[in-house]
Amino acid sequence: MSEICLRGADRRELSEVASVVIGWSLDGPSVEALRDRARKSESLQSIGRAVRHRLREDGYALLRNVPCSEDAELVALIGLVAVPSALGNGDTLFFDISPDSSRSEDVSGTKAEFPLHTDSTFFAIPHDFLGLACVRNSDSGGESIIVRAADVAERVRAVGGDEVLAALGDQVYPFYLRDPLFGHGIQLVPILHRDGHEWSIRYRRDILTALAERFDLDDIHRRALTVLHEVLADPGSFAVQVRLETDELILIDNHHALHARTALGPGERRLRRVKGYFLENSARRVL
Ligand SMILES: [Fe+2]
Repeated sequence: MSEICLRGADRRELSEVASVVIGWSLDGPSVEALRDRARKSESLQSIGRAVRHRLREDGYALLRNVPCSEDAELVALIGLVAVPSALGNGDTLFFDISPDSSRSEDVSGTKAEFPLHTDSTFFAIPHDFLGLACVRNSDSGGESIIVRAADVAERVRAVGGDEVLAALGDQVYPFYLRDPLFGHGIQLVPILHRDGHEWSIRYRRDILTALAERFDLDDIHRRALTVLHEVLADPGSFAVQVRLETDELILIDNHHALHARTALGPGERRLRRVKGYFLENSARRVL
């Protein structure tokens, strides 16, 4: 289990870091100031290294005892590994997700199950990560499920063979494009492909199902999609299940893992979602 627990001293350190931006709004310069200040703290840097390690190994990192209601502290903590981005996150650094959220545009704001997917599929380059900071969870349900892309690739190969796995890497699958740099329309992209030594994935079954009918996929690409849908409908032992409690933050690698959410039980639930780019990739975007 990828858990990292902040100590009381770490929280005090974070609130000291946050004090450098008291009275500022959280935008480019203040986010940068928080990162600069946090970089000077050896204990916070070691948390950053642990988070990076867990993300690389497991596709996610779970942090406990995090000040999930405090914007500047959260930005300072996340800033150890990434640059948060309001773009594609409801134009805010922390987007409130609650079942009754009137701003909700999709299933994430309902109580329904949300099957395995990756976020920001409408961007030319989807966000590197998403984070969910838990202010309060429902009394039951609402677990996060994470599956690594590498495990999906292994399973696809076992079920469909090398040809099917290779077909998923072809640049033929339609997704909507809504990107401030690349415009609006439809983009044709690979779903599951090698990215250096790792497997990278972009997946929303509902979108693929809606769009694939309008595009003339040939037999092997249709078969590849069917195999992938099957594998992801029942990921079995590859799936890790995490239930967030108050003051817990989960960071998920949005290129190398998929995530899902089980249906929510009764009780009020409030999560705050953050998205962005890992520090090593932050040049991908003008923020
Ligand atoms: Fe999501």
